[in-house]
Amino acid sequence: MNPLPALAAAASEKATQSGPTLAVSDLRISAKRDRKSVELLRGVSFHVASGETLALVGESGCGKSITSLAVMGLLAPGLSMSGEVALTDAGGRIDLVALSAAERRKLCGRRLGMIFQEPMTSLNPMQRVGDQIAETLTTHGICSRQEAARRAVAMLDRMGIADPGRRALALPHELSGGMRQRVMIAMAMIGEPDLLIADEPTTALDVTVQAQILELIRDLSRERGMATLFISHDLAVVADIADRVAVMYAGEIVETGPIDQVLDAPLHPYTIGLIASRPALSTERRARLSAIFGAVPEPGRRPQGCAFHPRCSLAKPGLCDVGDVPLKRFDGRDVRCLRVGERVQA
Ligand SMILES: Nc1ncnc2c1ncn2[C@@H]1O[C@H](COP(=O)(O)OP(=O)(O)OP(=O)(O)O)[C@@H](O)[C@H]1O
Ligand SMILES: [Mg+2]
Repeated sequence: MNPLPALAAAASEKATQSGPTLAVSDLRISAKRDRKSVELLRGVSFHVASGETLALVGESGCGKSITSLAVMGLLAPGLSMSGEVALTDAGGRIDLVALSAAERRKLCGRRLGMIFQEPMTSLNPMQRVGDQIAETLTTHGICSRQEAARRAVAMLDRMGIADPGRRALALPHELSGGMRQRVMIAMAMIGEPDLLIADEPTTALDVTVQAQILELIRDLSRERGMATLFISHDLAVVADIADRVAVMYAGEIVETGPIDQVLDAPLHPYTIGLIASRPALSTERRARLSAIFGAVPEPGRRPQGCAFHPRCSLAKPGLCDVGDVPLKRFDGRDVRCLRVGERVQA
C-alpha cells in the first residue's frame, strides 16, 4: 500500500523547481553552568541540498541533538545561540532562527519534519495515534479528514506495523516503544516535508523495520527532493543512507566529506577511532584496534588546542595542545587536525 499517492505528481512538480537547501553557518550554542558560560557548539557549519542526506555522527554528548534542535528552533530555554540557519528554495529564503512559534508551527509537517530522539516528547498521550498522524494533513488542508485517516493507516502499514487499522485507534501508552517510534516517524513523514531532521530514528527498531524506514526516507529524497539531516551513532546505517557525513567531536565538526571517502579512508584520528570501534568488525580486528580510550570532555572542560588531543595517539606536545585548530581541505574533505598534512603526504 502506498501512503504517499501524491508522490509522483509532486516529483514532477519538484523537478521543475530548484529544491530546498538547508544552510547552517557558524552555529554557536552556550549554556550557563555555575554562573559561567560553557560552549556546547563552537561554530558548526554545513549544508544539505535537495535530495541529499547528510549524516551527523559522533559519540554521546558531542552535540548532535543540540544541533538538530537548534535547526528546528527548539532549543531549551536558557541556552544562548548565534549563527545562521536558513532553508532556501526557488520560492525564497526562510530564516529558521528568526521564526516566531506560530510561523514555525505553520511550516512543521509540510516544509519541516522532525523525528525526535525521545518519541514520547512529541506524542500527545491523550490522542489516538492515527489522529495525530492525520492531523498534519488536515492542518495544512492537504486532504479531507477521511482521506487523512486512510493515509495515516497506510503510513502505519508502511512502517511495518501489523493490523494498522486497529493500531491507529490506540493511545501512545498502549503501544510498545518501537511502535511509538514508528508513529513519530509516520507523523514526520506523512506531510512529505522539504527538510527532514531525523535524530536516531531507527535506534530502537528491528533491522527489518529499520530497512523499511530507511527505504522510505530514500524514496522521499529521490522522488520529492527532500533534504535530510540524519543523526546516528550507527555507522552501518549511516553508510546505507547518507551521501555525505559530518563527524562531530566536543561541539565541533572534525571531518566532513562524501560518505564513501570518509568511511573507506578516514583522515581525522577520531574518525579512524570511531570506525575501528564499530561492532560490525570481526572480534579479532576489534581487539587489535580497540575502542578509543577516554571519553568526550564535558562542556566547560574542553582541553586547550585540539579537543581530541588527550585521546589521540598521534598528538604532538607543543602542537596539538595549543591554539585553535581550523578545518582544512584535504583530499576532497574538510578535516580539523594539525597533523593530517604530514600523515597524508607521508
Ligand atoms: N539544555 C541543556 N542545557 C545544558 N547543557 C545541555 C543541554 N542540552 C544538552 N546539553 C549538553 O550538550 C552536550 C551535547 O548534548 P547532545 O544532546 O547534543 O548530545 P548528542 O551528541 O545528541 O548525544 P547522544 O548520542 O547521547 O544523543 C552534552 O554535554 C549535554 O549535556
Ligand atoms: Mg542525541
